[in-house]
Amino acid sequence: MCGIVGYIGTREAYPIIIEGLKRLEYRGYDSAGIAIFDGTDLKVSKTKGKVSDLEERAEKEITKHGNIGIGHTRWATHGVPNDVNSHPHLSNSGDLVIIHNGIIENYESLKQELISRGYTFKSDTDTEVLINLIEDVKIQENVKLGQAVQIALNQVIGAYAIAVFDKTKPEEIVIARLGSPLAVGVGENEFFIASDASPFLEYTKNAIYLEDEEMAIIRFHKGIKVRKIKDDSIVPAYVQELQMNLEQIEKGGYDHFMLKEIHEQPKAITDTYRGRLLRNEAIIKMAGVEDNMKKFLNANRIIIVACGTSWHAGLVAEYIFEELARIPVEVEYASEFRYRNPIIGENDVVIAISQSGETADTLAAIKLAKSKGAFVFGVCNVVGSSIARETHAGAYTHAGPEIGVASTKAFTTQITVLTLIALRLARAKGTISSSGFRQHLLELELIPKKVEEALESDAHIKMIADVYKNSRNCLYLGRGFNFPVALEGALKLKEISYIHAEGYPAAEMKHGPIALIDENMPIIVIATKKGHYEKVVSNIQEIKSRKGKIIGIVTKGDTQVRELADHIIEVPDTLESLSPLLTTIPLQLLSYHIAVLLDKNVDQPRNLAKSVTVE
Ligand code: G6P
Repeated sequence: MCGIVGYIGTREAYPIIIEGLKRLEYRGYDSAGIAIFDGTDLKVSKTKGKVSDLEERAEKEITKHGNIGIGHTRWATHGVPNDVNSHPHLSNSGDLVIIHNGIIENYESLKQELISRGYTFKSDTDTEVLINLIEDVKIQENVKLGQAVQIALNQVIGAYAIAVFDKTKPEEIVIARLGSPLAVGVGENEFFIASDASPFLEYTKNAIYLEDEEMAIIRFHKGIKVRKIKDDSIVPAYVQELQMNLEQIEKGGYDHFMLKEIHEQPKAITDTYRGRLLRNEAIIKMAGVEDNMKKFLNANRIIIVACGTSWHAGLVAEYIFEELARIPVEVEYASEFRYRNPIIGENDVVIAISQSGETADTLAAIKLAKSKGAFVFGVCNVVGSSIARETHAGAYTHAGPEIGVASTKAFTTQITVLTLIALRLARAKGTISSSGFRQHLLELELIPKKVEEALESDAHIKMIADVYKNSRNCLYLGRGFNFPVALEGALKLKEISYIHAEGYPAAEMKHGPIALIDENMPIIVIATKKGHYEKVVSNIQEIKSRKGKIIGIVTKGDTQVRELADHIIEVPDTLESLSPLLTTIPLQLLSYHIAVLLDKNVDQPRNLAKSVTVE
């Protein structure tokens, strides 16, 4: 979603903001803009398109000198993506300038009110309404910018992260957050503002993360003051030291972040179970689970809430929890759960899964579950994210930053964490034997090596991608633990190559999708040795007799599917419950190569955002 970058200090703001916006490109956007105060005047340049388009335009439009500025990448919500609707937006006087992430829900009524008082609007955005509301308050109440922002925000319904400054007082930036992340990098006599820490990582490792309903006034010489938006109370600014490094957010020799992240999975999975899976002692140690063991063991059921790929990880977890720990599980789209008055109470455990920890619907689902008394456990990747903070307890995936919009290593590490939790609970409940438990630990520890082996099929998969790159439709089939992997495989293809794809439980094929099968339809079938293998082989035969093109994902050494399929991709053998960690690898590579061959923007697919902070 939209990205915010700002700078105030002694350096030139322009290059810091432009490079920062490039770092935030992964969030997904359709236009970009920048405002710099050059010592005399405020210069604004903005355009539909990419940050590189903005640079071209800024070259002609603005002087690039100045020590205070803000920049933005916009993912359209109100108003089509065009130059005018791009941020920053100016107030009617031209003194105030704003960038904004989120949605002001009551913008229409505020706009009418402002129009009746003579304000005019150039864009269709809610953001331009907000900056004029701030200006109006500032003039009417004769207050400073910080106070004006505060009073205005108390009239606003919606979600936001904003950065505002006044060209007549170019020594301060005012920022505020409700429902959209905002971080401040604290340097020597300089401050960086950004949606996440990646734009300022090379300048400082000290960061302050604003909480919801907080605002901050950042003054060049005087430092930063954080306060509550509602009641003006001062909040101590807690500076944390970031653990992330620059290398983690760069491509490291790969053509795309997605490819880098696919290849990082062996390490990411190891990092996920490191210190938790203690095979020699035959234990799993997870503080968040241990401390809340009673809640888990007394749970009537576990409800998993998530969106997108994280929802697919939740579906895999449903099979794992039920199989190993014998706890009933329901998996819900967070967006549906939050609006349907769900029947939950104190004896339910809700697990919220989110890579970014910022997804608006998942956050809202958590708040709802908490209000009904449920215990909420988070599985997040981004440390310190909103969801990590909002949940009662949790476990990080430790996958490292995921930049590619199409989620890869987040998925496999989420499954890893959820497997660890299920195994820990299974042991506590006695639903797994001691030898079964040990075998799982051993096999889980072997997974990173086996993922590496699965990655060796890369060149073969690229060749298959070349054969099917022009397909209009694609079907993905799997059963049991691998049914959600089929859904995830189809999602990956849709997201980055724009080919229509659907995932189905293999046995459901006869109830609809079979009608689509002809010689032009590629069907990817997950047919690993364990788990209904013979039944899936029968499905393959049914596809073959209808001339569908079969790409089988099979266990190494398989001969039966090899005879029937047009292509096979082998993955190493493992326990059925762990097989999604391997079968998903070729599906990620297949969609990656198809998208590259079609010359699509793999890391920033159209219309998609990495972290969806609006509902
Ligand atoms: C967006 C991303 C997906 C992601 C989903 C949920 O749609 O493009 O890759 O799976 O949000 O995000 P989360 O951060 O909550 O896992």
